[in-house]
Amino acid sequence: MTETILLTGGAGYIGSHTYVALKAAGYEVVILDNFSNAAEDVPDRLELITGGPVQVYKGSVLDRPLLARLFAETQIDAVVHFAARKAVGESVVKPLEYFETNCSGLVGLLQEMDAAGVHRLVFSSSATVYGVPDETPTPETAPHRHINPYGLSKITGELVLDALAKSDPKWAFGILRYFNPAGAHSSTLIGEDPSDIPNNLIPYIAQVAMGQRPVLQVFGNDYPTPDGTGLRDYIHVEDLAEGHVLSLQALLSTGQSHLVNLGTGAGHSVLDMIAAYSKACGRDLPYEIVDRRPGDVPVYCAQVDKAREVLGFEARRDVEAMCASSWAWVQARARGNAY
Ligand code: UD1
Repeated sequence: MTETILLTGGAGYIGSHTYVALKAAGYEVVILDNFSNAAEDVPDRLELITGGPVQVYKGSVLDRPLLARLFAETQIDAVVHFAARKAVGESVVKPLEYFETNCSGLVGLLQEMDAAGVHRLVFSSSATVYGVPDETPTPETAPHRHINPYGLSKITGELVLDALAKSDPKWAFGILRYFNPAGAHSSTLIGEDPSDIPNNLIPYIAQVAMGQRPVLQVFGNDYPTPDGTGLRDYIHVEDLAEGHVLSLQALLSTGQSHLVNLGTGAGHSVLDMIAAYSKACGRDLPYEIVDRRPGDVPVYCAQVDKAREVLGFEARRDVEAMCASSWAWVQARARGNAY
């Protein structure tokens, strides 16, 4: 029997790529999204990629009656829960909105799942739960540390799931700690599409490459890294999407919870990424060194052995592929509805 997976936030950046990967793996997929940080045409684009209709419930994960209706109308086997807020700076200014969406949203979803007899969930966590880690590459055993309300909301989500799994063996969770997702789908039909000024490096570089912004600001070159700029473990969003498929397959076949990092294990500096993107777009991209961004971490890099052992996960695509696919996507996106 074909299993049906609910993707909350399934029209967003990572959710949409995971939709494609799950369809390719043979699952039925239903999306719940309020399109607060996703373009309205994503479902049409997913139809073009997958060649079939896309079932979308439009609404918030906080809308309990909507969740109840969704679970009543569709037999769901497992949930992948992306729907959340993720801007660190905003979380410092509006912490309650972060706790509401990221914490209350998760709890309400779990209650509706329980009422519907659904007890498998993959949770979008983040390297942010390590705060400033003592050890890099960072193993999953590193302690929880929060340096902003966003990080606290993700740690809280993990702790809620851990307590629930301990309360009753009927529950099983896949907790995936993403490092830095980058790149876009090979079809050029979906990719990262921030509705505001980008906070993250790659979408910002992409807008500089497109001529929408004059210069990239590099936040500090006095970190204890080889070139002084921040080091990150960038992972291609298509690899990340495949990690979700493996996580779901493990959950559904074993009924055992797991918690893993999803990264490549390799670190790249801001200057490395500017060079890689310059190569992809064929011109040297302008940048200027400015002060450190408050709250930034010098190095995030994943220890990847556990994901390999538990899920058989291995990231296959490199930063060149991430930059090339991002560049292809932003150009296609700018051409508008020419798809
Ligand atoms: C950030 C969040 C992280 C969150 C993730 C989600 C912070 C401190 N961390 O990760 O908690 O899970 O986004 O999307 O905000 N950089 C520049 N110029 C720019 C933008 C970024 O130099 O215009 C640098 C940063 O200083 C950093 C690297 O690029 O060294 C990556 O930054 P970014 O893409 O924002 O990711 P994180 O900071 O790792």
